[in-house]
Amino acid sequence: MQKLIIKGKKKLSGSITISGSKNASLPILAATILNNNKTTLKNVPFVKDVSTMIELLKFVGLKIKADLSKKKLIIYSNKNLKTIAPYKLLKTMRAGVLVLGPLLAKFKKAKVSLPGGCAIGTRPVNLHLFALEKLGAKIKIKNGYIYATAKNGLKGNKIRFPSISVGATENAILAAVSAKGETILSNCAIEPEIQDMIIFLKKMGCNISFTGNRKIRIIGVKEFKPLDHEIIFDRIELGTYIIAGALAGNRINILKVQPTIIKTELRLLKKMGVKMKVEKNKITVFETKNLKKINIKTEPYPGFPTDLQAQIMVLMSKAKGVSKIKEEIFENRFMHVPELRRMGAKITIKNNEATIDGPVNLSGAEVMATDLRASVSLVLAALAADNRTIINRVYHLDRGYENLERKLKNCKANIQRV
Ligand code: UD1
Repeated sequence: MQKLIIKGKKKLSGSITISGSKNASLPILAATILNNNKTTLKNVPFVKDVSTMIELLKFVGLKIKADLSKKKLIIYSNKNLKTIAPYKLLKTMRAGVLVLGPLLAKFKKAKVSLPGGCAIGTRPVNLHLFALEKLGAKIKIKNGYIYATAKNGLKGNKIRFPSISVGATENAILAAVSAKGETILSNCAIEPEIQDMIIFLKKMGCNISFTGNRKIRIIGVKEFKPLDHEIIFDRIELGTYIIAGALAGNRINILKVQPTIIKTELRLLKKMGVKMKVEKNKITVFETKNLKKINIKTEPYPGFPTDLQAQIMVLMSKAKGVSKIKEEIFENRFMHVPELRRMGAKITIKNNEATIDGPVNLSGAEVMATDLRASVSLVLAALAADNRTIINRVYHLDRGYENLERKLKNCKANIQRV
């Protein structure tokens, strides 16, 4: 099993180009099922989750050509697809369930495995199914599979989500864009990745618009168009490298970004004292000493993202005073804490709140990655720590961070995979 070995306290300097967003690519890839024309996707991050989604689409019957050097995918769907998504392709990537909406909309039936368990929480799909039932689907769960049918096709409806879910909003949109008539979705997630998917769907010929506070209006259409789309940048990767820069950087230029999308993160990082210069498509982060404590809670967008919680916790360990994080999205997302403690962090957990006492001197240790964002928090801690850190189970990182070692090495980090 591969490990990362990082020798900390090297001053980072150089440039990092941010990749396309994994969380935008996954629903957009699922959306291509609907179209029988050519789809060209650019700025695709070739990370493990994206490869798993490509494998799933190929299993279903889509033809996909990948050009890794150009970060491009050319995709052809058709009228004769399998309407099954098997467990083997959903057990490692929950977003596979996003093919349910498009398959059901296009073929009036689908059999999709319930996604595998997940370390950060139970992560049910009841809200996805609730929305599809409101659109007229009949749903049964049997032998670990969701069986969905809509004999007479899906029909538009008014759907108010009882709580905000990124995946359920995406699945509902992907089903409603070709349902009969009008759908009004309210209490939707409005993450930038969903907004990117909506831009994609509009180019594809869908009739869809935001009509106010967390409300989306869709009129179903039957015909779609060929299209080209460039995937939005990965805001979580951006946040991660800003924190790397603040922890261990001399000067890091972060390129190919739209800072206006991460206003909340930038405001909070500035409040902590992180030295940055924010330009239109670039952020420069400078060495930051005297970081200040802060209290944050994770929330749906435009709030502070749960996917950046583990990373900012490392920064809080270097800040003077007691910082707090309330995790409001997932019930079990503090698994990085025991490992960070082994590196010298002073963190206690009570219910969904972490208390971080700083500043501490982090020191290298052998640690274990447990999920995608937890893994990268260990990388950040290692960059700021004395001596050598060995991170086991790095396959979690490969699910979502494109060329992490190469990007850090280009900034003079001492990091290698063995
Ligand atoms: C997406 C992101 C993930 C991010 C999360 C929250 C992708 C591929 N993944 O995950 O990186 O951490 O948003 O920003 O985009 N819930 C239910 N029932 C459901 C669905 C969700 O109770 O049917 C709950 C979840 O358990 C969780 C909360 O709703 O507590 C939010 O989850 P959701 O927004 O759906 O996350 P994902 O779409 O799975």
